Amino acid sequence: MEHILFKTANTNDTIAVCSFDESIETEFSKIEKSLSSEEVNDIRNFRNENFRRQKMAGRVLLSTLLGEPGKIEYDQHGKPHLKSHVFDISFSHAKDKVAVMLSKKTAGTDIQDITPRIRRIVHKYMNQPELDSLQEQTYDTHATLYWCAKEALYKAYGERQLIFTDNIIVEPFSFIPGKGTFKGSIVLNHSKRDFVLKYEIIGIFILVYLWNE
Ligand SMILES: CC(C)(COP(=O)(O)OP(=O)(O)OC[C@H]1O[C@@H](n2cnc3c(N)ncnc32)[C@H](O)[C@@H]1OP(=O)(O)O)[C@@H](O)C(=O)NCCC(=O)NCCS
Repeated sequence: MEHILFKTANTNDTIAVCSFDESIETEFSKIEKSLSSEEVNDIRNFRNENFRRQKMAGRVLLSTLLGEPGKIEYDQHGKPHLKSHVFDISFSHAKDKVAVMLSKKTAGTDIQDITPRIRRIVHKYMNQPELDSLQEQTYDTHATLYWCAKEALYKAYGERQLIFTDNIIVEPFSFIPGKGTFKGSIVLNHSKRDFVLKYEIIGIFILVYLWNE
């Protein structure tokens, strides 16, 4: 059985996070008959047990949120589209956690566990003003927050060519434990789209999601 760890909503958005275990295989088999054979094959063909269960958990959580299994199709960039309902959708998974966001506007979410390994890659995704906002005592958590924010914005845009340091910009912010709100933008040649983002720290996990209130 899935266990909902976090859920929030406003008039446009719903975001939920679940924990799952091996029983997700049984839960998934209950909704499987309502999905297309392509959808089921895509999930069942994953040899890696954790990847497969993460995908199953996403579909079971989606079904819980909608009250019925939704129909998902992926475009050429790998972005999921919910064909059965009018919501924009975003999925994320990390270890035994899955996050789903549904939005009447723009969905984008990312969940990630906090690890010091993030230090090795900060220069690949953060620009100088963002890096300057990090403090040694909260470095790993704060850097992971920037990472999740950029992944959430990347998923909202949905196409592959974005460069994390230049096209996905987070307005530098100070770290506050627990939860917080900050701003991010997708910047392309002649356009800038601004978004409000929220984060929630759930144990060793960070959840970031767009907030279209
Ligand atoms: C696609 C990507 C965003 C997925 O993120 P991830 O951390 O590996 O995995 P997550 O569990 O958080 O997200 C997986 C979900 O992303 C979604 N996704 C994949 N491609 C997507 C896209 N183009 N747009 C929106 N969502 C996408 C899928 O729904 C997938 O879940 P599902 O398979 O259950 O449907 C990521 O792998 C990626 O390519 N990031 C950009 C890499 C990059 O440019 N890095 C440069 C800085 S170092």
